[in-house]
Amino acid sequence: MEPSRTLIDWPGRRAAWISASDPPKSVLDQKFQHDPRRHTLVCGDNLDALKLLLPSLERKVRVIYIDPPYNTGNGLLYNDRFGSWGRDGDRHAAWLSMMAPRLLLAWRFLRDDGVFFASIDDRELPRLRLLCDEVFGEDNLVSTVIWRKKVVRGRGNRHILPQTEYILAYARDINALPPFHENLTPGMKKEYAHHDSLGPYKKIPLAKSGTRQSPRPNLYYSLMAPDGSEIPCPTHQWRWSRETVERRKNEILMEKNRKGRWTVYTKQYLRSPEGEERKRTPESYYDRVTTSDGTAEMKELFGEVILDFPKPSRLIRDLISWATPRGSSDPVMDFFAGSGSTGQAVLELNAQDGGSRPFYLVQSDDPIVHPEFRSIYEICRGRVERVIKRLEKTGHSPLEVREYRVVGYPLKP
Ligand SMILES: C[S@@+](CC[C@H](N)C(=O)[O-])C[C@H]1O[C@@H](n2cnc3c(N)ncnc32)[C@H](O)[C@@H]1O
Repeated sequence: MEPSRTLIDWPGRRAAWISASDPPKSVLDQKFQHDPRRHTLVCGDNLDALKLLLPSLERKVRVIYIDPPYNTGNGLLYNDRFGSWGRDGDRHAAWLSMMAPRLLLAWRFLRDDGVFFASIDDRELPRLRLLCDEVFGEDNLVSTVIWRKKVVRGRGNRHILPQTEYILAYARDINALPPFHENLTPGMKKEYAHHDSLGPYKKIPLAKSGTRQSPRPNLYYSLMAPDGSEIPCPTHQWRWSRETVERRKNEILMEKNRKGRWTVYTKQYLRSPEGEERKRTPESYYDRVTTSDGTAEMKELFGEVILDFPKPSRLIRDLISWATPRGSSDPVMDFFAGSGSTGQAVLELNAQDGGSRPFYLVQSDDPIVHPEFRSIYEICRGRVERVIKRLEKTGHSPLEVREYRVVGYPLKP
């Protein structure tokens, strides 16, 4: 049978695909060599910048996070209105033609165990999803994370107030992508309120919860209580087989309640025998920070909000920490860097866990009117500088930063 593949087509698709492999039209102002001991900032259009970084970074990047223009049509400091917007306009085609070659290139930067994250809202979500399915392979979809970006009611729609956007996550190879982990929340840790010689643990009933189902014969048996009485099988079944209960009897706890009924628990320890604290798998609904945290962060660093809707760096820091181990030195890339929130996320995560992940940020020189910053690139650099200064004051020594500029070919004499 033919594999069922859904390809996304639009006027301009062929040219967009080809433009990914066209030679770059510019050069970097100095020779670029991947050096894991340095962070890299690149000023210029990301299509050429990616082509120029690729030869020394191909298959070396562990995490790519991007926050591209959403094609809202709004007047922002950068172009967020692609193509023409009439009834027969080609706005989606124009946006796809911009995105396609950049995604094709992004894929080439990823290591086998690499992951790609892209923020997007409702407007271009369906197209981005199909485009990514094609570039990364639909089997490599890790998840569509829903980010609750707003908790206040606000305006903007007469029917349903928009409060969420999305983060698509794709693996370069889902089978090579290690599981994602994150720390337990303080509330979860509180549940490990009991102690024995192996440390804190929490009690989990051995009886299986949930709806009634046909019991598996090996999970259906009775147990003997310490006083010799029989503990019948619960309504549904046990979670462990008799053999497992026997083998792990040190983790079994039987307690009599006031009514004289026995309950059986398993002990789940907070730490492994090696002392490693238990982790959990992240969930597809993310509501730890909102857009206003991103805005507050910018105010704190610059004293004002220079770019609208910067992403809260905590969101990006969490994504990177899901995908890279503690103390990692894996490269992270963002080629729609904006105000540099990914730079802040990497710098602070490194400071937190002793890592030395280098970042590669690309941001165009989109001009702005401001007394201190002439372009969005300068805001990006400004954020990175400020965060580094702050970290140095608290005794951290972030990696050095090197800047590159995409420039036209020098004129022939
Ligand atoms: C949605 S914003 C990113 C915001 C960023 N995540 C933050 O938290 O500040 C998209 C950014 O991509 C930049 N951009 C758009 N097209 C670009 C291109 N072709 N090359 C480089 N940067 C580009 C825009 O200037 C804008 O700053």
